[in-house]
Amino acid sequence: MEKFVINGGTPLKGEVEVSGAKNAALAIIPAAILSQDVCTIENLPCSISDIGYMMKILRQIGAQIRVINKNTIEIDSRNVNSYVISHDMTKHLRASYYFIGALLGRFSRAKVSMPGGCYLGPRPIDQHIKGFELLGATVSVDDNAIVDARADKLIGSPIYLDMVSVGATVNIMLAAVKASGLTVIENAAKEPHIVDLANFLNSMGADVRGAGTDVIKIRGVEQLHGCTYSIIPDQIEAGTFMVAAAATKGDVLIKNVIPKHLESISKKLIECGATVEEFDDAVRVSLNKRPDKCNIKTMPHPGFPTDMQSQMAVLLAIADGTSIISESIWSNRFKYTEQLNRMGANIKADGQLAVVQGVERLKGAPVKADDLRAGAAMIIAGLCASGTTEIEDIYHIDRGYEDVVEKFSGIGAQIKRVYCPDPDCLTNAG
Ligand code: EPZ
Repeated sequence: MEKFVINGGTPLKGEVEVSGAKNAALAIIPAAILSQDVCTIENLPCSISDIGYMMKILRQIGAQIRVINKNTIEIDSRNVNSYVISHDMTKHLRASYYFIGALLGRFSRAKVSMPGGCYLGPRPIDQHIKGFELLGATVSVDDNAIVDARADKLIGSPIYLDMVSVGATVNIMLAAVKASGLTVIENAAKEPHIVDLANFLNSMGADVRGAGTDVIKIRGVEQLHGCTYSIIPDQIEAGTFMVAAAATKGDVLIKNVIPKHLESISKKLIECGATVEEFDDAVRVSLNKRPDKCNIKTMPHPGFPTDMQSQMAVLLAIADGTSIISESIWSNRFKYTEQLNRMGANIKADGQLAVVQGVERLKGAPVKADDLRAGAAMIIAGLCASGTTEIEDIYHIDRGYEDVVEKFSGIGAQIKRVYCPDPDCLTNAG
């Protein structure tokens, strides 16, 4: 068991480099098996645990993986020979369900156990199943939560999503690229990782158009080939550093980003009084006073991302005035507020709304990471609080933030990872 120990109060200063996007990588890795060839994936955040789990699944179904360097792998899908993925493989992460679409595309058959992942409220997959069925598959979910999808032949179809879903958009794209004829996904998600997946599929010879708008058209092709592809920078990791810079009254240049993907975050930081300078592939964020209050409503892209909601709450927790956060994607994404309140924040969460009454400062305390982004929020809180903060359950953070200690230390944070043999370590926190 490990925890982070943070001594707060130091403004972050300097430069930090953002890794490849986790949520793009999680869609692109399963997509590689559609090619029956070799794909080289660059800018992959190889050391985060979600990517490790996806590689394990790839190996289990017969793919070969060659690690070229820290952020580049080669996936050889020629010998993929199984359409079955068991619960012990899928339980670690949500994105394991992208193998349903990818295996359907490859074998017209997929038998994949329901996925795990952060608990943010119920996470149904009805829209994924609707999409597979419209493409001609028969889908059943048995008592052991194994999804069995099979088709004689996948045939392109119009598919209207009842709600904007990143996961359903990805899964349907994966199943449709080799279906015969035209698939049109309406009310599709527009997140940067959807566009990245489309670009990757097109690099393999697919015909996907309109990604980044709410209508995606996919004309099926017989075969895909290998390619070399570099994953986009991680919007949420970048946003996390941006908020951390502002919350610690720091000044940080965040490199290897696409500023356009960060606009909704930049706008809110500016509303809070921060200065955000945009460069070609970097943003610089600074703030030298107490943040101003501002209201946040999470929305599908290009709205403010739900995956930045908890980090932003830390900034608002120390803002001058009262802010309202409205979470419109997930029904249960305010659990972390209990942890922030332990640090002296004054947040009242009720359902999908939180009222954040700014306090002068947070105080270090023993806390835990309830999920990945909640964990990122705890790091930011620890960095701007006075005294020492110890964060437990950091395996959540390791799912999605590459070299997190090294990167934060590089901009002046006093953060270390310590081994904690005592399962009751919170009570022993000094
Ligand atoms: C993706 O989750 C991300 N995960 C999440 O990031 C992110 O919070 C979310 O999109 C929203 O942006 C990955 O990309 C791996 P959805 P996903 O399908 O695809 C409902 C992180 O921290 N819905 O867009 O699971 C659903 O319940 C993670 O990196 C249905 O009702 O999200 C939710 O209310 C956490 N039926 C809404 O739609 C469905 O069939 C959006 O979910 C599918 C979804």
